[in-house]
Amino acid sequence: MSSLYIHIPFCRHKCIYCAFYSVAGKRDTDLYVDSIVREMHARKDFADKNLYTVYFGGGTPSLLEIKHVQLIMQQIHSVYNTCGLQEVTFEINAEDAEFEYLKALKQTGINRLSIGTESFDNENLKSLNRTHGALQGIRAAENAKAAGFDNISIDLMYSLPFSSFEKWQKDLQTFLSLDVPHVSCYTLMVDEGTMLEKLVQKGKYKPLSEEESLRQADYTTDVLQSHGYIHYETSSYCKPGFHSKHNTVYWTEGQYTGLGAGAHSFDGTVRYWNKNDIDLYCRAMQTNGSQPCFEYERLSGEQMYNEYVMLHSRMAHGLDADYVKKRFPLYYPHFALQLKKLISCGLLNNDCSLTKQGWHLQDRIILELAV
Ligand SMILES: C[S@@+](CC[C@H](N)C(=O)[O-])C[C@H]1O[C@@H](n2cnc3c(N)ncnc32)[C@H](O)[C@@H]1O
Ligand code: SF4
Repeated sequence: MSSLYIHIPFCRHKCIYCAFYSVAGKRDTDLYVDSIVREMHARKDFADKNLYTVYFGGGTPSLLEIKHVQLIMQQIHSVYNTCGLQEVTFEINAEDAEFEYLKALKQTGINRLSIGTESFDNENLKSLNRTHGALQGIRAAENAKAAGFDNISIDLMYSLPFSSFEKWQKDLQTFLSLDVPHVSCYTLMVDEGTMLEKLVQKGKYKPLSEEESLRQADYTTDVLQSHGYIHYETSSYCKPGFHSKHNTVYWTEGQYTGLGAGAHSFDGTVRYWNKNDIDLYCRAMQTNGSQPCFEYERLSGEQMYNEYVMLHSRMAHGLDADYVKKRFPLYYPHFALQLKKLISCGLLNNDCSLTKQGWHLQDRIILELAV
């Protein structure tokens, strides 16, 4: 089985914190979607043809018209074996979640929505440079349900330097009132090259102390767990049965093909990525790849081991010593030694899952286990 990721690198404008590859302003979407379809056919044998999940991510997939989504979905069914297709996620910005659009999306075969809400507080949204208000965020979730989606996720951000603990508490209460089965709660990262980085460098914002960030993180977990959500990955919480199948493929080294400018792929040993350049990408696809627009790297055993450690230290179930022994025998002696230390200092439980302290110190766990 494998997964398919489709990158839509268009946005209305750039949010201050965002380092994802996307460009603001109007673009030739017909040409881009045609290029995606061409790439899908050209790279159909990159990974296993039996498709398990599909994910439309961005950028802003909800800038696509329904005819574009229909075309891509039709092509997916013609190129891949979709008998076992379980989950088709579409990222939607809150301002695009009109009932009619969502209903039409559902008819194309999309069965999961990930709504970019970020906050239910208008001042926070303004500071983040979002183009929607709090009410639109609430209506987006309501419209999604009314359109027939039961598998819905909401993205929220906390540790905002211009906000407060009380506002984060209110955001979580509003989220809970919407009765949605999945939430991704991201601590604000000051990523390189973003407007936020410039504002921090100029002293306009001071990132929250680690102590305050951890206080908000702990509060998040406590509140969500007390309402029946499972904390299954650093930023991800779900009601039983509603974990993101697609993201779990990334986190468990599954195979996936990424289509579109800036998209990444992995076939088990080779990482392949299209360059962050929409024009180069479209030219390459329109001329049947005569102009390469990608790079790739074959992972060494050491890189694969380190990736395993990095990804699994972010997940609730943690690491699997038997798996490491079988899959990475060369690194197992180091792994076993460090594991003992991490268990004795209270960062991992005996079954290698993360303790509460372990969730706080994931970077240290990774550092100790990596080679
Ligand atoms: C691909 S992005 C955005 C999807 C969609 N375009 C939107 O904005 O609604 C997915 C999510 O990552 C999170 N994110 C992006 N940059 C972040 C940052 N610097 N720190 C924390 N979370 C971030 C946001 O919650 C965002 O919704
Ligand atoms: S957060 Fe979403 S809308 Fe904002 S710039 Fe990034 S991808 Fe675009």
